[in-house]
Amino acid sequence: MTQPTSHLLLVDDDTTWREITAERLKEQGFDVVQAETGEKALELLNQFAFDILITDLGLPGVDGREVIKASRDLYPAMVRIVVTGYGTPRDAVDAMKFGASDFIEKGFPFEALLHRLQKERELRRHASDSAYFRSQLEERHQFGGIVGRSQPMRKLFEMLETVAPSPSTILITGETGTGKEVVARAIHHNSDRRAHRFVALNCSAIPEQLLEAELFGHERGAFTGADRSREGRFEQAHRGTLFLDEVGTMSVGLQMKLLRVLQERNFERVGGNQTIKVDVRVIAATNSALSRMVSEGTFREDLYYRLNVIPLELPPLRDRRDDIPLFARHFLDKFAPGGDLQISQSAMRALMAYAWPGNVRQLENALERAVALGAGRREIGSADLPPELQPRSAALPSAFVELPEGGIDLPAYLTSIERDLIHRALERTQNNRNKAADLLHLKRTTLVEKLKRMGTDH
Ligand SMILES: Nc1ncnc2c1ncn2[C@@H]1O[C@H](COP(=O)(O)OP(=O)(O)OP(=O)(O)O)[C@@H](O)[C@H]1O
Ligand SMILES: [Mg+2]
Repeated sequence: MTQPTSHLLLVDDDTTWREITAERLKEQGFDVVQAETGEKALELLNQFAFDILITDLGLPGVDGREVIKASRDLYPAMVRIVVTGYGTPRDAVDAMKFGASDFIEKGFPFEALLHRLQKERELRRHASDSAYFRSQLEERHQFGGIVGRSQPMRKLFEMLETVAPSPSTILITGETGTGKEVVARAIHHNSDRRAHRFVALNCSAIPEQLLEAELFGHERGAFTGADRSREGRFEQAHRGTLFLDEVGTMSVGLQMKLLRVLQERNFERVGGNQTIKVDVRVIAATNSALSRMVSEGTFREDLYYRLNVIPLELPPLRDRRDDIPLFARHFLDKFAPGGDLQISQSAMRALMAYAWPGNVRQLENALERAVALGAGRREIGSADLPPELQPRSAALPSAFVELPEGGIDLPAYLTSIERDLIHRALERTQNNRNKAADLLHLKRTTLVEKLKRMGTDH
């Protein structure tokens, strides 16, 4: 079967390199158009829907980032590859944020570029899959089992459509219970690796001295107790996805070994000398700020950039409260399937006002408990929710407040109570306005407003 010609736009101000590369791409059957400036590239993009864009980042005038952004807005399904100078992974990571699908270093062998382009066909096939996903998304507010319709989740879904089919390494950050593993699984199941295994390993759950053997396997007699050889997680995940949870807890020594596998795609088992080659996509997750660990010297910078090719950040639940009703429905269906158990509006208000330090996992547990308590009834009420969600304000007033003989200046009195509670909330949260606002069931902006009016410079 003949394949349709791929139309490629090649943008670089380095004329020699551009012309040589264009020649070689033409030999490989690509239809190549060249642009020496960003302006020219934008003009061409407006006229013609290329399949592939290959661009340098540092162009005079309109730079590569703007070309990428414009092409993404015009043609979401286009393949975008960035060419970077040596040793500037930061720029590449930046470009991925603007919508590049892959990057390659300037001194690469031509074959490496070809290899990436060969994947282009698959990527395009997936792009049409994504159109299908998008239509599903409208219906269910989901991407491969991930629930959400808030602005940050919609953005995440869009990002997932682009990055899931690519082979790049992904780093997912987020507080505990925000759904990092759910996202990792969805990525695997929406990639061309879905027919192979998704292997998950929680790096913090395994003692340091065993972790290496767990990752890379070991030969018989490699250490005391190794009475037979065993394959490690990398081998198990061959052609599939390896999910490394809590990667920040890995020792610096092991980080080094992980870096080597990511770069060279091969390793030896513990106690073995045979080199094993694997094709594994790594998705790492962490709930600690790896960038800070890098500056403190507890996490290798080179590994950080290797892992962080595509960063995905899962916002805490309190920053996407509009997802809570959707989650409530989702978990009610899960724990009381087929039933028509409802949730009262007051219970819903309590759910939406709470700070959820344990995020979605905590919400899920709260609803599981509520379903158990509400069994046999038609509606879950706020009394079925865990104690920390019970409305406390009801217990406050009348017991403490008395009306003095001479009456009271109600507005002044209320203001002083408000001022007092705001001070306490800030004190308890060490002046963290987000957390203080949560404690007071206020929006952060409302709290800031009030502080301004109080003339306090907290
Ligand atoms: N967007 C979501 N849609 C559906 N379920 C979700 C979503 N986010 C989280 N969950 C559910 O919440 C629970 C916690 O999710 P998950 O295990 O992925 O969190 P995590 O970020 O990996 O947490 P930890 O850092 O503690 O390992 C799971 O039961 C998962 O099914
Ligand atoms: Mg997890």
